[in-house]
Amino acid sequence: MLAHVGIFDSGIGGLTVVRALHERERTLPIRYLADTAFFPYGGRDPAEVRARALTLGHSLVDQGCTVLVVACNTASSAALDQLRAELPVPVIGIEPPLKPAAEQSRSGRVLVLATEGTVAGERLAELEANHARDVTVQMVPMPGLADLVELGEASGDRVHSQLAEAVTGPVALGADAVALGCTHYGFVAQT
Ligand code: DGL
Repeated sequence: MLAHVGIFDSGIGGLTVVRALHERERTLPIRYLADTAFFPYGGRDPAEVRARALTLGHSLVDQGCTVLVVACNTASSAALDQLRAELPVPVIGIEPPLKPAAEQSRSGRVLVLATEGTVAGERLAELEANHARDVTVQMVPMPGLADLVELGEASGDRVHSQLAEAVTGPVALGADAVALGCTHYGFVAQT
């Protein structure tokens, strides 16, 4: 029997992860939790996000999940170590795809778009130290972008102007690879 996978995010962003899993394994049993009562995580204190992530993780395990996927970069940043220490199941965390971005860049300049919490977190700094030492990494916090996506606004003027403001400077400096460090942004990339 297939393991029941518990997946959570602050909102709909983690559904980009669910979609990717279902493309590989259509019958995978998934229990998805969107923590909309606490959305958005991005601007919250990491200790608050950590406490919330632990509550959700325990709840999904109590509901019978045998694997947990943290489909939220901000929650991974704040709580992945603690979730792995506390929960009796394997815990998989989403992190910004900085490693493939660094590998694919020809100019040696890479841009990471993520929430304020992820940009400020130690995990992203570690990711850079371990996998992107040979490139210049510019990390740009995007307050409000996940909020637009959560409201169903994944394209249009407001999204476009936020993105244009974030990428214009780095692209002018030569950035040629972008790591989308928030699962909500996966919906933007589709448009
Ligand atoms: N989807 C979340 C992430 O990957 C962030 C959205 C939020 O700010 O709650 O970081």
